[in-house]
Amino acid sequence: MEQAGEKGRKVCVTGAGGYVASWLIKLLLANGYQVHGTVRDPSNERNSHLMKLDKASENLRLFKVELLDYDSVLAAIAGCQGVFHVASPVPATKVSNPEEEVIAPAVTGTLNVLNACSAVGVKRVVVVSSVAALAIKPQWPEGQVMDEGSWSDKEYCQITENWYCLSKTMAEAEALEYAEKHRLDVVTVCPSLVIGPMQQPTVNASSLFLITILRGIRESMEDRIHHIVDVRDLADALLLTYETTEASGRYICASHPIKAHDLVDMLKKMYPDNNDYRIKFTEPDFVYVLTSEKLKKLGWRCRPLEESLVDSVEFYKEAGHLEN
Ligand SMILES: NC(=O)c1ccc[n+]([C@@H]2O[C@H](COP(=O)([O-])OP(=O)(O)OC[C@H]3O[C@@H](n4cnc5c(N)ncnc54)[C@H](OP(=O)(O)O)[C@@H]3O)[C@@H](O)[C@H]2O)c1
Repeated sequence: MEQAGEKGRKVCVTGAGGYVASWLIKLLLANGYQVHGTVRDPSNERNSHLMKLDKASENLRLFKVELLDYDSVLAAIAGCQGVFHVASPVPATKVSNPEEEVIAPAVTGTLNVLNACSAVGVKRVVVVSSVAALAIKPQWPEGQVMDEGSWSDKEYCQITENWYCLSKTMAEAEALEYAEKHRLDVVTVCPSLVIGPMQQPTVNASSLFLITILRGIRESMEDRIHHIVDVRDLADALLLTYETTEASGRYICASHPIKAHDLVDMLKKMYPDNNDYRIKFTEPDFVYVLTSEKLKKLGWRCRPLEESLVDSVEFYKEAGHLEN
């Protein structure tokens, strides 16, 4: 197995200020990488945590990049041997113009990144996709375990106006097709719902999942199986798939399957005084259980769910995110 860094010590991470990318950059800096981080607005307070990371002053350089502006993407990737394409719109609320706000930045944005990687001679690209690209499939037989061979049903995503899932499905499919056509080494990682402490000052969409339950402002939710993964374990998975030569194709990164009502029961037991947790559970349209065996075979390990929950809740409390 190839050792850390042989693919290159200078890497680019897109969407640097976001939840997942911030943890990835912290890990890359701790492992001695030089990082080009892309942000849309370097002077915005939401990106202020990045230059405070350990070793950031020596090894992190921020670039002003809009995914739809190819030249800005190319400038950030120039000189890098590896790229982690993390940036993609993750809307927390309904969007009014899905094509412009979600689909184009995800799909054209990914193609811009891959074209720039080809132009620069990047050795490996790790694209952060999502289980949203493989699990939105109402015809899936209940009880059958889902692996990397599955793709979300684009038509169903469209009918249900699930623009985020549609964007991730289209973007990942384009990325793998591009890789094959242009002989670019692309690996995709498909995380499930990501939780854990945040580095960034603003709250991202997936962190709202636990925060709204804990604050008692969530009235109802589908009682489906969530496959929760810790953001720190996801960062490990991204580095692992970058550093391991034999990694190829797609990797599901989803650790702990738990039904929504069991998760809420766990939180109730752990934090009984928090609120009265009066959530109404509704029947989901379909259920699926995912496997991360392929990633585990590369050596990926993840922490227990309890640890992720405790660390998340303690972080939210400290940061004031649980105050109504
Ligand atoms: N969190 C999860 O539960 C989860 C699960 C599965 C997959 N993922 C995937 O993980 C990746 C990161 O998600 P996250 O949770 O870290 O979300 P996040 O905190 O919202 O980060 C998304 C990042 O993408 C950037 N971005 C969006 N549109 C852009 C554009 N047009 N040009 C340049 N940058 C753009 C954002 O920049 P600004 O800060 O400027 O808006 C932000 O830095 C995404 O690809 C997401 O689909 C996340």
